[in-house]
Amino acid sequence: MNISILGAGRVGATLAAALAAKGHAITIGHRDPAAGASQWKGPSVRHASLADAVAASPLVINATPGDTALPMLQALQTPLQGKVLLDVSNATERTANGMPGGLLYPNSSLAEHLQAALPQTRVVKSLNTMIFTVMAAPQSLSSSPTVFVSGDDADAKSQVKALLADLGWPAGQVLDLGGIQSARATEAMILMVPYLIAARGFKPFALTVA
Ligand SMILES: NC(=O)c1ccc[n+]([C@@H]2O[C@H](COP(=O)([O-])OP(=O)(O)OC[C@H]3O[C@@H](n4cnc5c(N)ncnc54)[C@H](OP(=O)(O)O)[C@@H]3O)[C@@H](O)[C@H]2O)c1
Repeated sequence: MNISILGAGRVGATLAAALAAKGHAITIGHRDPAAGASQWKGPSVRHASLADAVAASPLVINATPGDTALPMLQALQTPLQGKVLLDVSNATERTANGMPGGLLYPNSSLAEHLQAALPQTRVVKSLNTMIFTVMAAPQSLSSSPTVFVSGDDADAKSQVKALLADLGWPAGQVLDLGGIQSARATEAMILMVPYLIAARGFKPFALTVA
């Protein structure tokens, strides 16, 4: 299928490579398409502006920084109408050393704010509880990770679960937590990251339910 990814960083490039390898037609949305295309480190894909990328696909992945995602996606409300928006971002205040600090949306979540701001768009949260390398290589860790799925629309979640299968996730490692409100739980997991890295070093990680 046509899939658009907003954000051309580590997550965007990783998901683009894995999904392109499965035969999906990928469009990457950049703030500056010419500059973004010249700096792109991923596979051969189409490059577009953020709005043109959203218009190009029925399913759009938000892989931009979580602290700027809400106003950025609100500005794309019209092209996002009728689309599935898979949000993989984490919205935190940044500490001086660039590590995630407190939650930007305490007692709520970015995903809930996105769903409220974009009522004609079906928002699904997933893949935000692991380092980017694991998103497309779930068998790369010493124990089997879990990928969580949150969203209000069953069909949108089915589409995302199909993409997770394409990324290598066995159905038994996919845990549907229910409505979009459940994203506040998975988004809060980001608070563990600086402490995990301090305790164990900068190694690939994900969460699992055992
Ligand atoms: N890195 C991880 O392991 C990981 C794991 C789980 C979740 N996440 C989440 O996934 C998202 C992306 O992470 P990342 O590590 O790929 O980040 P990154 O390497 O910093 O890349 C983010 C990309 O988003 C675009 N961007 C930056 N600022 C933007 C803005 N204000 N508006 C629109 N686009 C903007 C940039 O692309 P252009 O310059 O081409 O526009 C940039 O390449 C974040 O929300 C992060 O919390 C990351």
